[in-house]
This record gives sequence, structure tokens and C-alpha cells, in this order.
Amino acid sequence: MSAAFTPIRIGPLTLKNRIIKPATNEGMAPGGVPSKMLVEYHRRVAAGGAALTTVAYCAVSPDGRTFPDQVCLDETSLPHLKVLTDSVHAAGALACAQITHGGCFNFLPQLSTRWPLSASGGFNPVGLMTWRPFKQAMTEVHMDMIAGQFAEAALLAEKAGFDAVEIHMGHGYLLSQFISPMYNKRRDQYGGDAAGRARFPAMVLRRVLDAVGERLAVLCKISVIEGVKKGATAEDSVEVAKVLEAEGAHLLVLSGGMNVESPWQIFGSQLPASVADTVENPVMRWGARLTRLFEPKVKFRPLYLREHSIQVRQAVKMPLTYLGGSKQLADIEQAISDGFDCVAMGRALLQDPNLVNKYEQGSATESGCTSCNECVPSIYAPGGTYCVLNGPNDVKLRNTPAA
Ligand SMILES: Cc1cc2nc3c(=O)[nH]c(=O)nc-3n(C[C@H](O)[C@H](O)[C@H](O)COP(=O)(O)O)c2cc1C
Repeated sequence: MSAAFTPIRIGPLTLKNRIIKPATNEGMAPGGVPSKMLVEYHRRVAAGGAALTTVAYCAVSPDGRTFPDQVCLDETSLPHLKVLTDSVHAAGALACAQITHGGCFNFLPQLSTRWPLSASGGFNPVGLMTWRPFKQAMTEVHMDMIAGQFAEAALLAEKAGFDAVEIHMGHGYLLSQFISPMYNKRRDQYGGDAAGRARFPAMVLRRVLDAVGERLAVLCKISVIEGVKKGATAEDSVEVAKVLEAEGAHLLVLSGGMNVESPWQIFGSQLPASVADTVENPVMRWGARLTRLFEPKVKFRPLYLREHSIQVRQAVKMPLTYLGGSKQLADIEQAISDGFDCVAMGRALLQDPNLVNKYEQGSATESGCTSCNECVPSIYAPGGTYCVLNGPNDVKLRNTPAA
């Protein structure tokens, strides 16, 4: 039997195998209310054999959302999320809540401040869409407040029945804005070299570990390479991983790229032109179309983050998850033989949630996912995120609250 199908201990949890479904924004919580479609989506992944399924983007506060249709981890979302975790458990898997704050990356019509929080102040191009073009540098008072919100969200996730939380430190959200040298220009102890830039994310990790770490697995997702000239490199990520390992993270999930500056680095290839059509503001829509013309034309290749992730593997002893372009059974086996403890499959499980069972039973060795990336703009579809090879989801189910 392949090592991919053997159990592994992650903090207080035992995963039944090494395959994780990473967060892929489901678009199934209209008005922030988790729907029956969201439950069904994760139930299918759980029944399909993955050991752990991750509910994407659970904001730690209303200001931490990037869009209004996102789950906020609060008392009102608990009964709905409890239906989801019960359903995942009944189908034989464990459930993880991705806990996060967008910082200056948000498109909310209303925010409690005109100057969204970030590592440093200054011009914020994303804010042009909401007439909030400037961001503010966080003070230590803000840091204490936000770290507390992460801890509180982790406690709520536990109450909702989750087995793990994943602190999002990648892709350009708030904690990634601290890690990134493009965003973090601070001259205090929270800026400077990679270890300094990881100090606030590590502080958040500590507060979450203190809150739930004895009972829940605490994961951190980082971008192992930002993929742009002035962005963080794999060498930076080695330092960040060492800081998070020393702080006691149970597992790191190694992703890549930034939402605004380098989305192709998240997906290993360019997003389709249709992504620009999802931008509501007409000026920004044309801006998005123009920007796309100047993006590097990256061609998808399996395991596209392998070389950079191996640099992190060689530097730390803690459990690591490989993520990025794992589709075929051979990709999973390659990542495990490279020394990664787990493998996350996003688009491949979106295309076929039953793929892990098929691989384990030997009835398939290849995924049907073509890496067309059309699933990315589908996060705004009426039924929520779907694979175009399968067709859209049931809109009625997406509009019915889970509980
Ligand atoms: C439709 C879609 C939505 C995504 N949303 C999120 C998200 O909310 N949070 C996150 O951390 N990553 C998100 N991702 C990125 C995935 O977790 C993963 O990094 C990416 O798909 C590459 O992995 P893959 O090659 O296995 O698909 C999303 C990916 C897709 C395809």
C-alpha cells in the first residue's frame, strides 16, 4: 500500500491518510450564512476519502471578511457549521476551519474604518474599488486585538465541532501582508528581515495554540514563494517556517503566490480571461483585463511548487503539507517520497471529490482536472464554486441555510 494511505499524527489529531482538501473558496454562504450546499460540498469530499477537509475563509471578525458573502466565525454561524462538521464526521473525515483576516485586501461595502489595517500604511490599490484608497499601519494595540480575535475564532471553531484550524498566512491576506516585504515596510520589531516580519503571525499562532492547541490541530498556510520581484522568496519562507516551527505549529501548508500581484503563482498557470468579468466596477474591470495582458504566461506543470517547497522541507523537521499541482496518484507519491507528510489537492478534488477513494482502491490513477482554472471565477456563480466539467451546483441548496 502507498504511504499516502497510512495514518499520521498532527498535533492532537490522527489523520486516517495523508490527503487533505485545502481551502477553495466555496461561495456557498450567501450573506455569510453557511448553506446546505456548503455542507453537501464538504460531505462529498469526506465521503470521497480525504482525511481532512478545509472550510475556506472563515473570517475572525466582520472587518476580516473580503466579501459580504463569507462566513464570519461568530455565534450566529455556529449552528450551521455544526451541521457541516457532523456531516463530515459521519462521512468518515475530519474538518478544518480556515481562520483569517483580509487586512487591506477587502471589497466590503462597509467597514468600521476608512483606513483598512495592514502591516504598513500608504496607498492601497485594491481600496480604489470601495473608495478606501489608503491603509493604516497596525499598532501593538491593533495586534493584540486581532490576535485575540483569532484565538476567539478558534474557540468558536471548536464549539462548532471542527477538529483543526488553519491560520491563513498566505496569498496576500493580513498575516501575509506582515510576512511580505512588498507590504511590510516597518522599522520596528515586526518588520525588517523575514524572522521580524513573521513575529506578528507567530504571535497570532501562539494565542491560537494557547486557546485550542491541546485539543485541535493548529495549521498555518504560507506562500512559500510570492513569485514577484520584490516579494518573499523561498529563502524568506525557510526563515518564516523556522519561526512557526519554534512557536509550535502542528503542520504547515505550503502554498505560493499573492491574490493581487501573482495569482498565477497560486495556481501554477494564468487565470482565465473570464475572471475580469467578475469585477463589478467597470473601470477596475478594464484595469483587470489590461493587467492580465502583462502577466507572465505560465504553463501549468505538475507539482509546480516542488522545488521551493523542498527548500523548506530541508530546513525544518515539523510536519509539512505539499500543495500546488498535485493531481495524479504519481504526484502524491512523488511529494511523499520528497519527504512531505501530507499532500493537499484543491482543483482535483473539486473536479472529483471521490478521487482519493479511487486512488486508494486502485480504480484510477489520474484526475480529470484540466487545470483550466475556470473554477476560480465560479466562486461568484449562483450555486457557488463548481468545476465546469461537472456543471453548476443546485442554486436552491446554496440559498438554503444549513441549520
Ligand atoms: C476556486 C478556488 C478557490 C480558492 N480559494 C481559496 C481560499 O479561500 N483560501 C485559500 O487559502 N486558498 C484558496 N484557493 C487556493 C487553493 O487552496 C490551492 O492553493 C490552489 O488551488 C492550488 O492547489 P491545487 O493545484 O491542488 O488546486 C482556491 C483555489 C481555487 C481553485
